Amino acid sequence: MNVPLSIADYERLAEERLESGPWAYLTGGSGDEWTLRENRAAFARWTFRPRVLCDVSEISTATTVLGTRIEIPVVVAPVAYQQLYHPDGECATARGAAAAGTGIAVSTFSTRSHEEIASASPGVLQWCQLYVFQDRGVTHEHLVEVAAAGCRAVVLTVDTPRLAQRERDLRVGFEIPSDLPLPYARAAIGDAPKNPADQFALLDASVSWRDLEWIAGESNLPIVLKGVVTAEDARLAVEHGAAAIIVSNHGGRQLDGVPATLDALPEVAEAVAGRVEVYLDGGIRRGTDVAKALALGARAVLAGRGPVFGLAAAGEDGVRHVLELLRDELTLALCLLGCTSPDELTRGHIQRTAT
Ligand code: FNR
Ligand code: LAC
Repeated sequence: MNVPLSIADYERLAEERLESGPWAYLTGGSGDEWTLRENRAAFARWTFRPRVLCDVSEISTATTVLGTRIEIPVVVAPVAYQQLYHPDGECATARGAAAAGTGIAVSTFSTRSHEEIASASPGVLQWCQLYVFQDRGVTHEHLVEVAAAGCRAVVLTVDTPRLAQRERDLRVGFEIPSDLPLPYARAAIGDAPKNPADQFALLDASVSWRDLEWIAGESNLPIVLKGVVTAEDARLAVEHGAAAIIVSNHGGRQLDGVPATLDALPEVAEAVAGRVEVYLDGGIRRGTDVAKALALGARAVLAGRGPVFGLAAAGEDGVRHVLELLRDELTLALCLLGCTSPDELTRGHIQRTAT
C-alpha cells in the first residue's frame, strides 16, 4: 500500500502487523457484536442537509473541552494495554495526539504512567480513565499520581462493573503477557491472572453514584462519566456534579444490545440541555462521522480503535496521521456543509433517513 488515505487503510496495515490475540482484542465486541456493528451502521442512517453560499473561505476545527483548547474536536479514547500495539505504547500515542493538537485519555490498564507520558510529550492534554479496584488503596495511589502528573480530568468508566464476554478473544486464547508493565493495575493484579476478564474481576462492582464525591475529593479534578446512554442517567450525572458525559457503549464491547451511540446521543443531549459538556465515542472512522455527532449535540468525540490502528501500523506518526485524516475530512465536511467552525453545526444540518 502507498500512503494510507483513510483509517480503513490503517486498519488493514494494523491487521497485517498484529498477532491474532492483540488483533482480536482490539477489534472485537461482546456477544453477537450487534452493538459493535450498530455503532458504524448508525452513521449511515443520518444524512446531511448542507447549506450553501455561506462564505467558507476560512475554516477552523478548533474547540475546547473542559476549558482546554484542542485543534480538532477529537480526543484519543482510553485503550488498555497499548504496549501490545507498539513498543512505546501510550507514550507514542500521546506524542501523536499532541502533534495533531489534541490529547489522550489514559486507561487504568495503561502500560505507561502519566509521568512517563508527560515526559515523552511535555504539556500534552492527559485525562485519567479510572476503574475503581476493590482494593481502594490501589485506586487512592492511582489518583494521587494523577493529580501530581497534571491530568486535567478523571474519566470514570461506568459501563464496566465486570467485563463482558468477548468470544473472539476466547477463540484465539488471548492473554495479557505477565511482564506487561501496568503501573496502575499491577499492584492489584500481581503476576496472574492473564486474561482481561479475570483482571477486571478485581474491580469494585459496588461503585455507585455515592462514590463520585470520594473520587472528586481524592483527585480534585473534574469528573467525566464515560458510558452513559440514557436520559435518566444523564440527569443523575448532572445532579451529582459530573463536568461532562461521554455517550459510549464501550465500542460495542460491554452490553450487547445497547443502541448505537449516535442513536442514544439526542436523548442524552436533550436531557442535559447544555448544563454539562457531552461527548460521544463509538465507530468514529471519518471526519463526516465527527460532523454528524457534533450536529446531534456532542461537543467533541473520542476515537479508540482508529488511532490504535495508526499506532500499530506506524507508531507515533501513525497516530498523528490518523488524527490529521479526521481533521482534514472534518474541515472538508464543514466547508461543504456551509460551516466555518464546529460550533456552527446544528441539528438542522442532519436528518434521519432510514430506520
Ligand atoms: C477500549 N475501551 C476502554 N474504555 C475504557 O474506559 N477503559 C479502557 O481501558 C478501555 N480499553 C479498551 C481497549 C480496547 C482494545 C478497545 C477497542 C476499547 C473503550 C474505548 O475507550 C472506547 O469507548 C471505544 O473504543 C470507542 O469505540 P471505537 O472508537 O473504538 O469504535
Ligand atoms: C476493554 C477494557 C479494558 O474494553 O475496558 O477491554
